[in-house]
Amino acid sequence: MATAEIKIGQVDDVQELHRTGLDTVPDRYIRDGDDRPGCGNVSDLAHIPVIDFGELPRCDELIKLRLACEEWGFFQVVNHGIEEELLDEMENLSREFFMLPLEEKEKYPMAPGGIQGYGHAFVFSEDQKLDWCNMLALGVEPSFIRQPKLWPTTPARFKETLEKYSMEIRSLCQRLLAHIAETLALSPGTFADMFGECVQAVRMNFYPPCPRPELVLGLSSHSDGSAVTVLQQDMSCAGLQVLKDGAWVTVHPIPHALVVNLGDSLEVLTNGRYKSVEHRAVTNAERDRLSVVTFYAPAYDVELGPLPEFVSDEVPCRYRRFKHGEYSRHYVTSRLEGKKTLDFAKINQATTMAAPEETTCSCCT
Ligand code: OGA
Ligand code: NI
Repeated sequence: MATAEIKIGQVDDVQELHRTGLDTVPDRYIRDGDDRPGCGNVSDLAHIPVIDFGELPRCDELIKLRLACEEWGFFQVVNHGIEEELLDEMENLSREFFMLPLEEKEKYPMAPGGIQGYGHAFVFSEDQKLDWCNMLALGVEPSFIRQPKLWPTTPARFKETLEKYSMEIRSLCQRLLAHIAETLALSPGTFADMFGECVQAVRMNFYPPCPRPELVLGLSSHSDGSAVTVLQQDMSCAGLQVLKDGAWVTVHPIPHALVVNLGDSLEVLTNGRYKSVEHRAVTNAERDRLSVVTFYAPAYDVELGPLPEFVSDEVPCRYRRFKHGEYSRHYVTSRLEGKKTLDFAKINQATTMAAPEETTCSCCT
């Protein structure tokens, strides 16, 4: 979709809205009944699994990891080896950025329909409901996706810290993918060999306090278009929720743990054995919340489709073959709406969404 065609109407900056001290929220943030945080089952008691990275690849921890991937698609990682000071610094600098005056942040504007810079991603029309969230999104690797003009120069240490942070998170993603491959009885290098020069992007999400948290969402429900996602959240309050067996399960922050979730690429490659799981963020009346989220995905020219190991008479091929770049384009030009984006790859839906020659599955070509 060309930028010029996109009319998104008035999109307020939610921190500025919050600053006005309003006691209600504009209509564009008010969700329909069944999309409100209190609707349906919300479980504060269940917990997503916790994986001790220091114990991997010991057999019982690998089994825990397999169950976490199979049953949840989400887990928290402790003992991940990334220095706590670096995590703290990244969080503090991100927070400092969001606290800057609007004019300063607007030096790094996200274009309508764009995905990098400061603003609101995934807004494509005037009638779309908005999320109670400000974002700063940046492409990190490979270098051709970087837009250096959008990397904040204030706070001063932001750039170098993000650089260092991204290297550490990249290494964690590589180790994670090796262990995830092991849980699938694949050789540890399977994904690294296949993914080429991986695409890494970071998004800082800032959720100011909201006067009517029961009516709005901080971030609409979605699955991630990555292979794996690593999310760092501050300790101020919980806000991330994961859909498990029809109930929204709150992810309670653990100090210096990282939340990992499986993205759409892994669902396709494993033919649905592992699933990318729907999640969303809710807001809070008193407290703001910050998350720093890294998306790690195959190179754009990598062709994805179910690996033959996961296709059988009992489990027929469910996803077609496509280049990750095609999927990524589809993902960033669609609004966040549960797992709808993955219809792009599903074999029974693919015929209506893509050229017929692309509907073959990887195991029969
Ligand atoms: C995301 C995401 C949740 C959060 O950025 O994709 O799911 O808690 N964020 O910020
Ligand atoms: Ni997400």
